[in-house]
Amino acid sequence: MTGYTLPHSRDACAALDAENPLRAARERFALPEGIIYLDGHSLGPATHGALARVEQAAKREWAEGLIRSWNTAGWIDLPHTVGAKLARLISVDADAVIVTDSVSVNLFKLAAAALPVARSRTLIVEASEFPTDQYVAEGLAGISGARLMRVEEDRGLEALMETGGILIRSIVNYRTSHVMDVAEAEAMAHTSGGVIVWDLSHATGVLELNLANSGARLASGCTYKFLNGGPGAPSFVYAEAELARRMASPISGWFGHADPFAFTPGYAPKDGVARFAAGTPGVLSLSALDAALDAFEGLALRDVCAKARALGDLVIARAEGIGLEAISPRAASMRGGHVSLRHEQGYAIVQALIARGIIPDFRAPDAMRFGVAPLYVRFVDVWDAMDQLADIVETRAWDRPEFHARAKVT
Ligand SMILES: Cc1ncc(COP(=O)(O)O)c(C=O)c1O
Repeated sequence: MTGYTLPHSRDACAALDAENPLRAARERFALPEGIIYLDGHSLGPATHGALARVEQAAKREWAEGLIRSWNTAGWIDLPHTVGAKLARLISVDADAVIVTDSVSVNLFKLAAAALPVARSRTLIVEASEFPTDQYVAEGLAGISGARLMRVEEDRGLEALMETGGILIRSIVNYRTSHVMDVAEAEAMAHTSGGVIVWDLSHATGVLELNLANSGARLASGCTYKFLNGGPGAPSFVYAEAELARRMASPISGWFGHADPFAFTPGYAPKDGVARFAAGTPGVLSLSALDAALDAFEGLALRDVCAKARALGDLVIARAEGIGLEAISPRAASMRGGHVSLRHEQGYAIVQALIARGIIPDFRAPDAMRFGVAPLYVRFVDVWDAMDQLADIVETRAWDRPEFHARAKVT
């Protein structure tokens, strides 16, 4: 239930856009003319605020302020101040989040730190999980001697119940957009003595997350997707305070030290989640992210989530009319912020769309992902994109040599 009625014409789409509670948010983005951007689940677009902030951070704070800016521009606190802003989007305490490193690195840190805490030293991942999550579990098992269990899709919780180990799991699957029930999973983790490390990469900024109430204790997630932090923006770590105190980061770097500028030889961790910081933060990226998060100011996450799902419903309804199969759930409540459509020529079709100014993406072997980031994607955008998709599929306009040539990044 999204509270929206499915539009059956472009005019009906325009009417939904005109009355939408998020309609003003689009103005916060520096979107290029003539482009329909449906790839915000991979790289969010720039906001005007982020662009201005990068300029300020580079030209004023760095070039003029030099090293003084660590104190005078608040650089040293950015991992925490940006973390506090982000905490609102996942509904946890402001001091339970820091922004640092990449998701891959943070999943490693959290899973390694959970090994002595969980009932058994078993690392569990599903074979349908985003590859980096699987690789991290594999690598960590290799160096720690923990047992690796790679199980079939949706079998992770069963394995967790059996072993009381550590499950690394996305809330929203990167390929199908399928959403997992966090509260139900955490109840099972609790009973089993196991721990879940959540990957929120495709969930933050698009779902109405309530991590604290759902009992989630450990998480990391991307900030360059629906949070629009910019290419390679640092990810975040959430750790519930009491558990964090019982955990040690495997990378005991000086930024996680209780008093880094005391320059003492022994390691003593900061309190809480802050111990998961390792080295010097990337200030320019953090500054961009800080400003980008302001795009969510004044918006209710309920409205954000409802619009994403209504846009997704429209993608699925139009795709059915074209004869394309959706591998994302039909039920809006089970879906994140993108819809994946299957076609064996998906890569070439996506290239043909890009040539027409419509940008989705492709995940091997056959999934075309249409991201419906609700802050800037309009119903008319989806309608127009689906018109073009229909034309490309019906006329086989994808069948040109240049659309079959694979680029490095898909
Ligand atoms: C679910 C998921 N986890 C992790 C990552 C990668 O994160 P990072 O590159 O920050 O390590 C991605 C990137 O797309 C992702 O979709």
